[in-house]
Amino acid sequence: MSLLSVSDLSILLKSGEGQPIVDRISFALEPGQRLGLIGESGSGKSLTTLAVTGLLPPGLRATGSVLLDGTQVIGARDRTLDRVRGHAAAVVFQEPSTALDPLMRLGKQIAEPLRRHRGLRGAALRSAVAAALDEVALPTRVAGAYPHEVSGGQRQRAAIAMALACRPKLLIADEPTTALDVTVQAEVLALLDRLAAAHDMALLFVSHDLAVIGKVTDEVLVLSQGRAVRTGPLAEVLSNPGDDYTRSLVASARRLDAALDLTPEVSDDSRGA
Ligand SMILES: Nc1ncnc2c1ncn2[C@@H]1O[C@H](COP(=O)(O)OP(=O)(O)OP(=O)(O)O)[C@@H](O)[C@H]1O
Ligand SMILES: [Mg+2]
Repeated sequence: MSLLSVSDLSILLKSGEGQPIVDRISFALEPGQRLGLIGESGSGKSLTTLAVTGLLPPGLRATGSVLLDGTQVIGARDRTLDRVRGHAAAVVFQEPSTALDPLMRLGKQIAEPLRRHRGLRGAALRSAVAAALDEVALPTRVAGAYPHEVSGGQRQRAAIAMALACRPKLLIADEPTTALDVTVQAEVLALLDRLAAAHDMALLFVSHDLAVIGKVTDEVLVLSQGRAVRTGPLAEVLSNPGDDYTRSLVASARRLDAALDLTPEVSDDSRGA
């Protein structure tokens, strides 16, 4: 059974007005598998990830089927979703502040999911927090800092540590490096790549940038105006873009690569399938 199976997912306004925002998309992820979701701004990438975890904003509704680790997410009650979130899937957002409380020290925030979901207390909890910080390459002293006292890259590392606390089977990362400067972006991408491999986590990675997607995934789904216009191995999409929209994405990724002197690692088969 797939870890995540999305079939004919549509996202519509509850009022019933207008066209579907996301229109009958389907994809599946096996344990440990990675998929890049790419498309222009407004194409429905973020709403798709929110529908997968049952977190759509109040004015929107989803139809179709989202089976996450054996649980039907569409139409599920909050109590059911609470069980699934964290354990089956966890999310890292573009802006790390989304996941962080500005008034709580980072160590306490990382401790919270460890306490709640893994039942750790006292010395065991303290050492788990230290291990969680170490895993995302943050120094132990960061535990005593408030979010505004560390850099943007360190905040995102702390948010990643929180997302990983319950050892999710699927990590959803929605433009996790877009708010960071370029050198820090590369470090955070390498970190996600390493952590996903180390924990055999599946990865649903959202970006509007094919060059960034190429650093962490081998398979892509291209969204345009809420529709899946292309899906397949990244290497195939790059060499044979097909539709006009995918072609323009590939062309802009190439221009960016030339500018940054980077080559997408499209033939690297050492990453999880
Ligand atoms: N709460 C909402 N109510 C109504 N429409 C919404 C809501 N949230 C988003 N939308 C619309 O749905 C469409 C898809 O939004 P979404 O946030 O999924 O895009 P995206 O692909 O993630 O874009 P970006 O790359 O800018 O993050 C957009 O046209 C947006 O205006
Ligand atoms: Mg988005």
